[in-house]
Amino acid sequence: MKGLVLAGGAGTRLRPLTYTGAKQLVPVANRPVLFYVVDNLVDAGITEIAMIISPETGAEVRSTVGDGARWGAKITYVLQDKPAGLAHAVLTAKAELAGEDFCMFLGDNLIGTKIKAAVETFARAPEFGASVMLKEVPNPSSFGVAEVDADGNVTRLVEKPREPKSNLALVGIYLFRPSIFDAIAAIRPSPRGELEITDAIAKLIELGHKVRFERVTSWWLDTGKKDDLLLANDTVLDDWAVSGVRGEVDGDSKLSGRVFVDEGASVVRSSIRGPVVIGKGARIVDSRVGPFTSLGDGVHVERSSVEHSVVMEGSRVEDIPRLEDSLIGRRVHVSPGAAHLGTLSLLVGDDCKVELGRKG
Ligand code: G1P
Repeated sequence: MKGLVLAGGAGTRLRPLTYTGAKQLVPVANRPVLFYVVDNLVDAGITEIAMIISPETGAEVRSTVGDGARWGAKITYVLQDKPAGLAHAVLTAKAELAGEDFCMFLGDNLIGTKIKAAVETFARAPEFGASVMLKEVPNPSSFGVAEVDADGNVTRLVEKPREPKSNLALVGIYLFRPSIFDAIAAIRPSPRGELEITDAIAKLIELGHKVRFERVTSWWLDTGKKDDLLLANDTVLDDWAVSGVRGEVDGDSKLSGRVFVDEGASVVRSSIRGPVVIGKGARIVDSRVGPFTSLGDGVHVERSSVEHSVVMEGSRVEDIPRLEDSLIGRRVHVSPGAAHLGTLSLLVGDDCKVELGRKG
């Protein structure tokens, strides 16, 4: 079986971060979301992977992920020239998938389980034309929604229905056979102008194929928004973070819980409450960090307290008594200004969200 990872798309819900980078490369516990996707495919024995990229962020995705050698995999890149939908992305990769079964994985989806068992079951069940993963959610209208029968078949699928008939959302992980191409050829663009994979699977059923499903009982997060991304960071730190000190921690500092301090990082007169990851060359001085915080490479935190936040590479936080629930991009400087007391002085880019203390 081959892999197809979708790493294109505009990422409008994560602006401004996505003006300068791909949403699939935003870090969770200091690793790009996309790396967890590749981990999961490779764990299932899928090592030939085609990755769909967009003209805007393709070069960055390519240079960050590379040729797959670090996973013992072979990754090739396929350019989707316009964001014309998930089914259009599948069509774009037709030559790479060359008549084989494949697992399509959306590059911004993080899931708490391995897909290996589902992949093996599908390989042993040729009577099914596709297999989807479903998760009960409180807001099904935001997703593709499936209806199922008691025998384990999907009976109906609708993309983002206004009045959902079930609370089972389509997780962004799909198993297909080459027959999906016939279904895609038979659908038309949706009202949002995209060729929807949900419509293609519905068409597959219409064409007489059986579609099975797996229920996802672990967590599943679509990391395309700030709060989801912070939740993904909490969840991944909670489940997978390891302790380890490769950098330096002085005698006046205290680490508690699972704290990872990477090479070249230094912690001076500070208290770190895990789970926390601290990137290479970061510097924490006279501060409190954590819990549930990821500080990227080269981040400086001085005389501050940072909790439940993601701070990306090269940013500085200085003299901030309490920073919480924040997602801070690269090379950002957060500090009190030199302006008069009660006056704010900001240099903030497009589409940022600045929340300063409590109202009233
Ligand atoms: C896409 C699919 C949707 C699925 C979701 C999972 O939505 O169209 O069916 O439930 O991914 O993340 P999009 O993220 O493009 O809105």
